[in-house]
Amino acid sequence: MWPLRLWDAQEVALFLSLTLYVCHLAGAISIRSPQQSLTRPVQQDVLFSVDISCVGTPTIQWTFMSGRVSRDIGAWQPGGFTNVSEEYMDRVHTYTNGSMGLSDLRIQDTGFYVITVTELSGSSKDEGFVLKVEEVLYEDLQYLAVFAVGLASLAGFLMVSMWLMDKAYCRIKAWRQRRQMPENDVTDLQPL
Ligand SMILES: *[C@@H]1O[C@H](CO)[C@@H](O)[C@H](O)[C@H]1NC(C)=O
Ligand SMILES: *[C@@H]1O[C@H](CO)[C@@H](O)[C@H](O)[C@H]1NC(C)=O
Repeated sequence: MWPLRLWDAQEVALFLSLTLYVCHLAGAISIRSPQQSLTRPVQQDVLFSVDISCVGTPTIQWTFMSGRVSRDIGAWQPGGFTNVSEEYMDRVHTYTNGSMGLSDLRIQDTGFYVITVTELSGSSKDEGFVLKVEEVLYEDLQYLAVFAVGLASLAGFLMVSMWLMDKAYCRIKAWRQRRQMPENDVTDLQPL
């Protein structure tokens, strides 16, 4: 009796979880993204690449978040409307697979980007991306290096000149002392 009842319970549980899984699959929105953490230099472009699968035509919405700031970037439907906020109008590119391109990056674009996919049924799913926009320091560093080398050479030159001048001064002093010595002897001797 006992083993049979246990088997029944297990079977029921399995059936239930399988049913739940299938139901879940039917209403599931999947957002696949190859990379969710991106770093780009200033003025370059970025593509938040996603591939969505869901039932029917989804509504795609992208939101920007940084600290306490939360901004709507835009929303669109593949083959339907496209509504990009004025702020991003000339920098945002929308794709039917849900991806969003952002061009002419600025430091202030650093932050979180969230895509929300909503099905007609009302169920939705989010996926987050992190973008870091970096200042290009390379050229500045080159100038700084050249400046530092120039400054170091100047300092070196000044040090060497001072050392040479000091030596020359000592020599001249010694030479003058040596030249004055006989004269002194003469003047010393004169009264005699
Ligand atoms: C989505 O579409 C864009 C443009 O066609 C493409 O570059 C990108 O690779 C696609 N993303 C995925 C994850 O397939
Ligand atoms: C477009 O977006 C703005 C603000 O982001 C919103 O007020 C407006 O209702 C949207 N229009 C459509 C057609 O979705």
